[in-house]
Amino acid sequence: MCIIMATLEEIKDKTSEIIREIKKAIIGYDREIEIIIATLYANGHALLEGVPGIAKTTLARALVKVLGLNEKERILIDNIPYKGFSRIQFTPDLMPSDITGSLVFNPLTKDFEPRLGPIFSYIVLADEINRATPRTQSAMLQAMQEREVTIGDKTFPLENRSLGKFFYVIATENPIEMEGTYPLPEAQLDRFMVRIIMEYPSSLEDEKEIYKLHAYKLGEPVENLDSVVTPRWVVETQNFIAKNIRVSEAMLDYIARIIRATRPDVFKGVRRFFELGASPRAGIMLIKISKALAAMRGSSVVEARDVEKAIFHVLNHRLIPNIDLVIEYGGDFGAKMKVINEGLKYVIDAVT
Ligand SMILES: Nc1ncnc2c1ncn2[C@@H]1O[C@H](COP(=O)(O)OP(=O)(O)O)[C@@H](O)[C@H]1O
Ligand SMILES: [Mg+2]
Repeated sequence: MCIIMATLEEIKDKTSEIIREIKKAIIGYDREIEIIIATLYANGHALLEGVPGIAKTTLARALVKVLGLNEKERILIDNIPYKGFSRIQFTPDLMPSDITGSLVFNPLTKDFEPRLGPIFSYIVLADEINRATPRTQSAMLQAMQEREVTIGDKTFPLENRSLGKFFYVIATENPIEMEGTYPLPEAQLDRFMVRIIMEYPSSLEDEKEIYKLHAYKLGEPVENLDSVVTPRWVVETQNFIAKNIRVSEAMLDYIARIIRATRPDVFKGVRRFFELGASPRAGIMLIKISKALAAMRGSSVVEARDVEKAIFHVLNHRLIPNIDLVIEYGGDFGAKMKVINEGLKYVIDAVT
């Protein structure tokens, strides 16, 4: 018990330090930063959704920095060279092998050898994922799911927990369906533990802070962030949370009731908000991230506030909102999110 409390104290302190460091380069987005860290601790993947120019890429780079990773160095784990960070710009001509890798002919040995693609990294930024074709998207999503990649007849792990190698995908997406974009289908969105919706800066003050941060700099402030923890520390934290943070019977009951109440065929009252409710997979993801949030505030048990903090981020891309209400609210992406937000509040009220 003592060791658990000491480790929890450390997770809490280190997390505060990580957040403090990230906030040197990112103004605002407190909740979003917290969720992106919780998703890492819960060993999930995150999708950042928002218009261009609101620091989505910068947020991913900031996380890379504070975790002691970088783009240049390769870290050799079990003879596989992994990069600390890869940014893959998704474009219509991107091929699956541009992500995972391919076999190349070596004229010296007269043999084909695997050339590992940029997915062999600790953190992969899949930037503007909705600009690639469905075939390429699904190669990415399959690798994310399976945490391994097959090139030729050999399979290579993307994660190696016993040697301190984690694998975290942060994808970004623009909600405006512009020409030449391929929106991810629901079944693929489901692979992301969370979808984090990023809005414009929330106040005039924040907007000015952003400009102050940049006004006298040639480069990006994110380049100057210091590392706070190591990749190995991240894996140990993930293991610790999975093993030691408890979900009581009462809390399981609460989460199960919430998930079931999102389903229109189980709970008639919710039909006004949702056409399709959440799956058991969604419930599992909700439990995992709630455990991470509990640990981040130094607690060994999940409370309702952890679940309520995570729920919108875990469910917004899995629920299908009622189209009539969406139209009533204006019919755009913002209207969809408003319906989902209201529906979830209604569900939580109904089960408590
Ligand atoms: N909230 C913010 N805090 C700090 N910098 C910001 C913020 N919003 C935008 N910026 C700056 O604006 C520029 C665009 O950010 P970027 O991460 O490339 O956006 P996106 O990936 O969302 O298109 C960067 O220079 C970034 O530092
Ligand atoms: Mg970007």
